Amino acid sequence: RPMEGSLPAELYMEAAEWILAHTNFRPRVAIICGSGLGSLADTLHDRVIIPYEHIPHFPRSTVQGHAGRLVLGMLNGKPCVCMQGRFHMYEGHSISAVAFPVRVFFLLGVHTLIVTNAAGGLNDGYSVGDIMFIKDHINLPGLAGQNPLRGPNDDRFGERFPCMSDGYDCHLRSLAKDCARELGIQSYIREGVYCMVGGPSYETIAEGRMLQLLGADAVGMSTVPEVLVGRHCGLRIFGFSLITNKVVTSYDSSTRANHQEVLQTSEERAPELTALITALVGRIPD
Ligand code: 6GU
Repeated sequence: RPMEGSLPAELYMEAAEWILAHTNFRPRVAIICGSGLGSLADTLHDRVIIPYEHIPHFPRSTVQGHAGRLVLGMLNGKPCVCMQGRFHMYEGHSISAVAFPVRVFFLLGVHTLIVTNAAGGLNDGYSVGDIMFIKDHINLPGLAGQNPLRGPNDDRFGERFPCMSDGYDCHLRSLAKDCARELGIQSYIREGVYCMVGGPSYETIAEGRMLQLLGADAVGMSTVPEVLVGRHCGLRIFGFSLITNKVVTSYDSSTRANHQEVLQTSEERAPELTALITALVGRIPD
């Protein structure tokens, strides 16, 4: 009987072969656009657009605020592939399905992965609109056994027990800081720890407090599966969280988390986020 967890390598290969046959474009950088951050993909030059449903074995996205397509094109002189819309566990996808595109990107020849998300701020020093460069993560589902690398390991992608101490590339983060300085947006750049939770419900007040005690600076419902699979196959990773709202951690507060605020903040910050990623991509070493 098939083991639970990982998907057969052939599925990733058939998806990659379909894309390679469909376009001569050969991306080297992949960018996963989080909630409301998809407008970056519209700025690529010489775009080739591929709806997810055209690609064999690709999952489908179901959330409002997330389109469902790959956009391939040139960004600041570099061949890129953007995911306009990503997959989440709360949609009902398995954690391996959530990370499925990352292995496909690896097979296409991608060497660098940029992950973005909208997240709730846990760090008291953070404000709505801050951009937190992710220096590390807490894989809360993973600590309980929900890991996309669970199941028989395929050595063609990576090793059985991958190290995660250098998950987020220091050099890329330092390049991104240079870019932020040059763009004049360094005053709202932060650096911190992202914690993934399963969602779709937002945290209770007690859960928000618990995550603060655990050392998390921001919390969201994505990104970690893609990072694990990306590191496993040796991709260099840069990621940031846009702080779209503050997590409520006081019983005296009447503020309440809602998806509209998340989308609104990300739409307002879209120009700066696009400028930042564009500048960074231009500096990514080949
Ligand atoms: Cl407050 N929590 C979670 N889990 N995800 C979020 C968020 C909060 N805000 C944006 N995404």
